[in-house]
Amino acid sequence: MKKSTFLFSFLFFLQLGFSQTVEKVAPGIWKITYGVPEKHLPTEFKEKPLSAAMQQLPDNNTVPFNLKSIRFSNLPSGVLAEIDVDSSERFYGFGLQINSFEQRGMRREIRTCSWPVGNVGFSHAPMPFYISSKGYGVLVNTSRYTIFYMASKGKLNRSKAMLTDTSAKNIALNTVDLYGKKYSRSDEVSILTEGTKGVEIYVLSGPSMLDVVQRYNLFSGGGSLPPLWGLGFEYRAKATFNSQQVLQTANYFRSNHIPCDIFGLEPGWQSASYSCSFKWNDKNFPNPDSFVDTMNSRNFKINLWEHAYTHPTSPIFSQIAPYSGDYTVWTGAVPDFILPQARKIFGGYHEKEFVKKGIAAFKLDECDAADYANAGKEWSFPDIARFPSGIDGIQMRQIFGYLYQQTMLDIYKKNNLRSMFDVRASYLFASPFASALYSDMYSLRDFVRMTVNSGFAGVNWSPELRETSSDAELIRRMQASLMSSHMVANCWYLDLPPWLQYDTQKNVQHELLPNAKELEAAAKKLVDLRMSLLPYLYSAFAEYHFTGKPPFRALVLDYPGDKNVWQMDDEYMMGDNILCAPFIDSGFTREVYFPEGIWYDFNNNKKYEGGQNYRINMQLNEIPMFVKSNTILPLAKPVEFISPSTVLEINCKMYGNAAHRIKLFEDNSFNFDFEKGKYNWLNISWKENKISIARNGNYSKKLYEVNATAEVLDN
Ligand code: GAL
Repeated sequence: MKKSTFLFSFLFFLQLGFSQTVEKVAPGIWKITYGVPEKHLPTEFKEKPLSAAMQQLPDNNTVPFNLKSIRFSNLPSGVLAEIDVDSSERFYGFGLQINSFEQRGMRREIRTCSWPVGNVGFSHAPMPFYISSKGYGVLVNTSRYTIFYMASKGKLNRSKAMLTDTSAKNIALNTVDLYGKKYSRSDEVSILTEGTKGVEIYVLSGPSMLDVVQRYNLFSGGGSLPPLWGLGFEYRAKATFNSQQVLQTANYFRSNHIPCDIFGLEPGWQSASYSCSFKWNDKNFPNPDSFVDTMNSRNFKINLWEHAYTHPTSPIFSQIAPYSGDYTVWTGAVPDFILPQARKIFGGYHEKEFVKKGIAAFKLDECDAADYANAGKEWSFPDIARFPSGIDGIQMRQIFGYLYQQTMLDIYKKNNLRSMFDVRASYLFASPFASALYSDMYSLRDFVRMTVNSGFAGVNWSPELRETSSDAELIRRMQASLMSSHMVANCWYLDLPPWLQYDTQKNVQHELLPNAKELEAAAKKLVDLRMSLLPYLYSAFAEYHFTGKPPFRALVLDYPGDKNVWQMDDEYMMGDNILCAPFIDSGFTREVYFPEGIWYDFNNNKKYEGGQNYRINMQLNEIPMFVKSNTILPLAKPVEFISPSTVLEINCKMYGNAAHRIKLFEDNSFNFDFEKGKYNWLNISWKENKISIARNGNYSKKLYEVNATAEVLDN
């Protein structure tokens, strides 16, 4: 080639940028690569996909749109990808979004954050992944910061095309109209991946949004399947409690017959925190081994609070420091969990000191990042940090929660023990992790929206209970927690359970509410109901694991054709048969919309015809759950905890006169034998006025005893 021709082609190439390649990477998933992406993409750490299950999904070969039509270019700030969309398309997702649901017209900044206020897209579990109402998904495989303009910006050429528009007619007289998202300014989604020269975009096919979600979860490794006890009630005691105070509180639950499976210890169990020593505090817990044995003998699974920032006095500090970032958090080393050495040191120590000694779970705190809302309180490692694996603080910020969970859950898996963690940050592809996210934020309205959004993101969400300001708020919060994947009272600064005193100051002075006994009974009733729902919930989680169908879902996933649910972020499905419509404030009435079909009030069996709104009145002793017609609802006799020998006695309730079948999942719910095929599905149906059960599978023991008679509610 002549020198000048070479130079010309080189310049031409520079100007055009790189061209993209398209590759099918899994059934119904295509990868579009542009340029050379950075090292350590999230897919590198992903669990194996459940390929056989992916094959069962529809439309594995239908490319959702012309993938070559994505326009890529290089900006000084990163790579821009532009995708044409229809003017009627709606968008959902972006991980565990807090203040928003339907995302058209929004700008989403995908950034892990511990205090995600301001509706900019930050979250404890943000994800560069959205789902279109047209039935496809778009995911950017990166841990760099991304900004999505969801048809929210207008380009000059579009303005020219709209010259005929007489917008003067529509002069706005308030700021909502003036700046609101109702002005869809383009039919284009623009995605900026910052600080990189190349990018990988994954496009997932549908045809429905639910298919996209299922495909995503299966590609991630299948949905999480917590142990049965992980779906029970968790109580977290005050951070300063010593072993005696913990045992006393634990006894309170057993002697009052309030179910409790998981007992959480907060920072005070350690000799140093913050940062963490991962060593028992010998003043508060002089005999940790016997304390753990006592708790375990009373069937409490202990969950230990920690974060990964390793204190200089920790036994693993000097080993882990060389495999840590160059900045500290609260003087602690930040392990680089990309490195096998760091995982081995951190995981190995936890295995020997805790997992092998009967600690059932962990709460992985502070693995999101600093608090943007409170300037001057920046606590996490900075974006400019460097890690020995070669990534920077930005990338680590996004994936730290994911890598930390994986490191810790892997130890349990190695020991063939299932666990259920609490965790404060997560990212793409975390669907298989048996953990639930929580937040220091506390708006019940947002908490409910997060339950709804969790179904697009492959994460479990826990709207935990802490202090409240009224009886009604206490009950509403407990209900929202009951109707979520993880029911928790996080009393890390309270002496007593909040139903005995919900005012913090009075609680720590042990001043009981005048109606404490009454509220205690109401709380017990709610925890009992949670325990009754365990077989139903556990089976919904098994379905999630094997098919990717999330147990908690926005109504738009189940009823995509129903316009009334397109923006609905305060009602959701729990499993296939129950619609939840949490009461958010202290009022006794709210609007509830029912999609097509007949729905029954769980409390009094009152019937509602779907396709319309109702104003529903509810007292505090009623729970806003509505059962779909033609459901067989299995309800267990509540037990106080799940042990390896637990057999749940089930009574079924029949709603509607053409009761469908229901499937219950049964296995050794403590270990991973189900992955080797050791499980049963119980097909339950109604034949000749009796419950009939067909048990299919390879698990030889029973987890359920189902009674043949059923309560028939409408025939
Ligand atoms: C917070 C966490 C709380 C509690 C507290 C203990 O970061 O969100 O749930 O664990 O730490 O110090």
